Amino acid sequence: MHRKEQAVTERVVLAYSGGLDTSVAIGWIAEETGAEVVAVAVDVGQGGEDLDVIRKRALDCGAVEAEVADAKDEFAERHCLPAIKANALYMDRYPLVSALSRPAIVKHLVAAAHRHGATTVAHGCTGKGNDQVRFEAGIQALGPDLKCIAPVRDYAMTRDKAIAFADKAGLPIATSKKSPYSIDQNVFGRAVETGFLEDIWNAPIEDVYEYTANPALPREADEVVITFEAGVPVAIDGTPVTVLQAIQQLNERAGAQGVGRIDMVEDRLVGIKSREVYEAPGALAVITAHQELENVTVERELARYKRQVEQRWGELVYDGLWFSPLKRALDGFVNEANQHVSGDIRMTLHGGRAVVTGRRSEQSLYDFNLATYDTGDTFDQSKAQGFIDIFALSSKIAAKRDLA
Ligand code: ARG
Repeated sequence: MHRKEQAVTERVVLAYSGGLDTSVAIGWIAEETGAEVVAVAVDVGQGGEDLDVIRKRALDCGAVEAEVADAKDEFAERHCLPAIKANALYMDRYPLVSALSRPAIVKHLVAAAHRHGATTVAHGCTGKGNDQVRFEAGIQALGPDLKCIAPVRDYAMTRDKAIAFADKAGLPIATSKKSPYSIDQNVFGRAVETGFLEDIWNAPIEDVYEYTANPALPREADEVVITFEAGVPVAIDGTPVTVLQAIQQLNERAGAQGVGRIDMVEDRLVGIKSREVYEAPGALAVITAHQELENVTVERELARYKRQVEQRWGELVYDGLWFSPLKRALDGFVNEANQHVSGDIRMTLHGGRAVVTGRRSEQSLYDFNLATYDTGDTFDQSKAQGFIDIFALSSKIAAKRDLA
């Protein structure tokens, strides 16, 4: 039986951005599947258009229902904050901007699918990237009964065909405005790829950047004090802030100093090496501060072990396993390790760098009297020699054998 003849028409929830591809996808999915399309737009700080405008456009493009959600605070608290606590930097550099946003969007998609009785969730990703994995692994974790479709990947909805579709259907969306790049942005940062950047010898031009000023231009330095409580940024220069405000304010101030530009070739989960240019001024400033406060407040063995956990956490999140048991368990570890990460970090923001210049904490493990080389030294140096003799004993015995 053809689906259109079924008593109840199936429904598909579409992750809607308001852009050309997902606007066309509304009608395209309806044609391919015979289903009704419910558009869901989730604002994680992409900037740009008003949510009501986006909602209306979805309806004008043929969605039977359209929902928009301001998820900026939720994204900051539940997705960026765990990444800050984990000092998460994939391949030691990338603060997981897009990887963090997908599970935040997935929560809204699955909730909408359940609310609207949808059987399927659709997204606009291609078949070559990480984001398709993050969407679908997340959907499978939160809604195991839901099916997933991706029109660009599954129905060969190319850009040219999408433009032709939009023109033919008279969709209320500009089809001429063509960015030379593929861009994904949210409150935690911005990712730019494709175009001339695909030649990895080509340097990025200033035109690529939006969140950051050119770090090479002369300007006055900025100094900022970030206060943390148990790993959470709670104040900037003494004024209380939400996590979202902390990231936004640091985006402005660190961005104005050119902090947070990253140009890298990265390993995608699908096996491709790809070149991406990121700018994440707030993320890198707050992680730099958080790392240093950990250096002051976290005991050595815990700190050393946490570095391995951080790397694994970043890989899991990059690979789309946000809702996995291992990621959840590591979150427990990371939260426990952050119990004492409270205090102030002072940083100079200048010339593209965020440099820590001061730390202050009631939870500090830095003991001036143990560290000092001046009067007041309480460290008993006479104990050091015996400690070293025993500490080095096993390698000394081995050396005697190997040098013989
Ligand atoms: N490569 C990054 C990641 O996998 C960002 C992908 C976002 N897309 C883009 N159009 N730049 O997390």
